[in-house]
Amino acid sequence: MTAPVLPRLWPLAAAVLVSFVATPAQAQVDPNRFLDTFESTFGKHEGFRRSGAKGVCATGEFVGNEQGRKLSTSSAFSGRPVPVVVRFSVGGANPNAPDNAKGQRNMALQFDLPAGETWQMGNISAPIFGAATPEQFLGRLESLRPDPATRAADPARVKAFADANPEVLLLPRYFAGQPVPASFASVNYWGVHAFAFVDARGNKQWGKWVFEPIGGTQGLSDDEAKAKGPSFLFADLRDRVKAGTASFDFMLQLAEAGDRLDSAVTPLPDQRPKVSLGRLRITDVAPDAGGACLRITYNPMVLPKGVEAGPDPLIAARAAPYAVGLSRRIVEGPKQ
Ligand code: HEM
Repeated sequence: MTAPVLPRLWPLAAAVLVSFVATPAQAQVDPNRFLDTFESTFGKHEGFRRSGAKGVCATGEFVGNEQGRKLSTSSAFSGRPVPVVVRFSVGGANPNAPDNAKGQRNMALQFDLPAGETWQMGNISAPIFGAATPEQFLGRLESLRPDPATRAADPARVKAFADANPEVLLLPRYFAGQPVPASFASVNYWGVHAFAFVDARGNKQWGKWVFEPIGGTQGLSDDEAKAKGPSFLFADLRDRVKAGTASFDFMLQLAEAGDRLDSAVTPLPDQRPKVSLGRLRITDVAPDAGGACLRITYNPMVLPKGVEAGPDPLIAARAAPYAVGLSRRIVEGPKQ
């Protein structure tokens, strides 16, 4: 019974083998090792995302514009409203992270496109990530692991790793120079990686995107942040959504020949122009810890036709750990 099937599988097996052999540079860090390291470094918070643990589900609507249609065939830019499953979160693995501290905020989006197509992305409130390669990110996490005796990271180890890998200091330095965001709806969210927008003729426009709040960015002074207390972002978001002021322009900064498309720690040069591809409006925020985002993971390799990932080694490296993270928290009982 099985004999006739085998010849049909051989070409597939050969193709898989050839692509595996031909792309050794894409060998990945074991995703379980990533997840185990998040847990041993930051503690295991069962049911929560191991990164961006403190979050809230929301829903939104995206309307693409003519410029979007010009650059990409993606149905996201058709001009018809596209429903979006949104998740806002505070960076890090701590589900009780204070909202009034400096640091990363996230906006993850899933565009539910026609014909069952989806587009997922996890955007952060910095134009760069905290490491240049998956191996470097793993090494950084390992360097931060607390010593069992002192329950704190060993400063000498942290310094030695950072001295040998200076890219890991770029992100903490960026956040040190930024105020505490006044709201999830008042900060820029960058995609960090380069993507190609592909038009009907197959022309590719490379770029890096940023979601910019339509009312501009707003930060808190140190005194204002202190007065807000550790838990104000969810209520603030609900108020702004009710008032209809939580909206973002989906901006694409256009790369030019010679710009780096393979680096999550190198933004495009400042002078590169930005164009708007459409507007995202947040329409609802979950009243509690539930919502449509709870049981999904935002895998940035889930792209629509008309948008392609670039050669950044970090983007391909995200898919597997996100899937393992999702499966761990589903088994534990998903929380946020
Ligand atoms: C190899 C590198 C990376 C690893 C191992 C990693 C790992 C993870 C994991 C395990 C999660 C939780 C997933 C879940 O449970 O659903 C997560 C969430 C997230 N990551 Fe990463 N990440 C990496 C790189 C990046 C980069 C470069 C960015 C910046 C664009 C990023 C942005 C985010 C965001 C925004 C979330 C929260 C998404 C949500 O709300 O569900 N990550 N990451």
